[in-house]
Amino acid sequence: MKIDIVTIFPEIAEAPLKSSIMGRATDAGIVEFGFHNLRDFTKDKHRQVDDIPYGGGPGMVMKAEPFFDAIGKLKTDRSKVLLMTPQGTPFVQAKAVEFSRIDHLIILCGHYEGVDHRVVEALVDEEISIGDYVLTNGTIAAAVVADAVVRLIPGVLGDDASSEVESFSGDGKRIEAPQYTRPADFRGMMVPDVLLSGHHQAIAEWRDLRAEERTRENRPDLLD
Ligand code: ADE
Repeated sequence: MKIDIVTIFPEIAEAPLKSSIMGRATDAGIVEFGFHNLRDFTKDKHRQVDDIPYGGGPGMVMKAEPFFDAIGKLKTDRSKVLLMTPQGTPFVQAKAVEFSRIDHLIILCGHYEGVDHRVVEALVDEEISIGDYVLTNGTIAAAVVADAVVRLIPGVLGDDASSEVESFSGDGKRIEAPQYTRPADFRGMMVPDVLLSGHHQAIAEWRDLRAEERTRENRPDLLD
């Protein structure tokens, strides 16, 4: 899979996506990241990527032309183009699964008050938001999406099963049961006996129950 990220801050995406598991997936040739500076697609000497909004209002709007030129260079028949924006559809695990099956993602990152809407109309397949809050720029959101997608590609996680039993996977309706590791007695706080019992059926039932309780407590919206 190839993921191209187009942003005025490539270094923000590079830091998380060149480290740890993403870095190893790149070294193994499972994913190829391209980090592209939007200013490299400008033609004026000031490398200007934004301008004042038509109709007035605060802030600046990102210009259409650098995005059109970036897409002109990067897009192929197999590309899907995303725009990171708080006005997008919510990014959820099912979306991560869907995107993990695509050959080539191009992720455009907004900044300032928004992006000239002709970019959305002519170039973008999906506008994506990572949550109902506003970041200073979409590059942070692009790194979140790329990480969530790439970790699902077979071979990226050491133990492929670990992405199958986790929160939001399967029917997406539950979060995971709590986990513990050694020591069994940590400052008087004990690991539940059942987890030390070696009784697989009882452990599975306990995890089921606790997953349900934890979902009701932390994410009642998933149960509606
Ligand atoms: N850019 C700013 N805030 C964002 C968000 N919540 N999701 C995606 N892109 C963004």
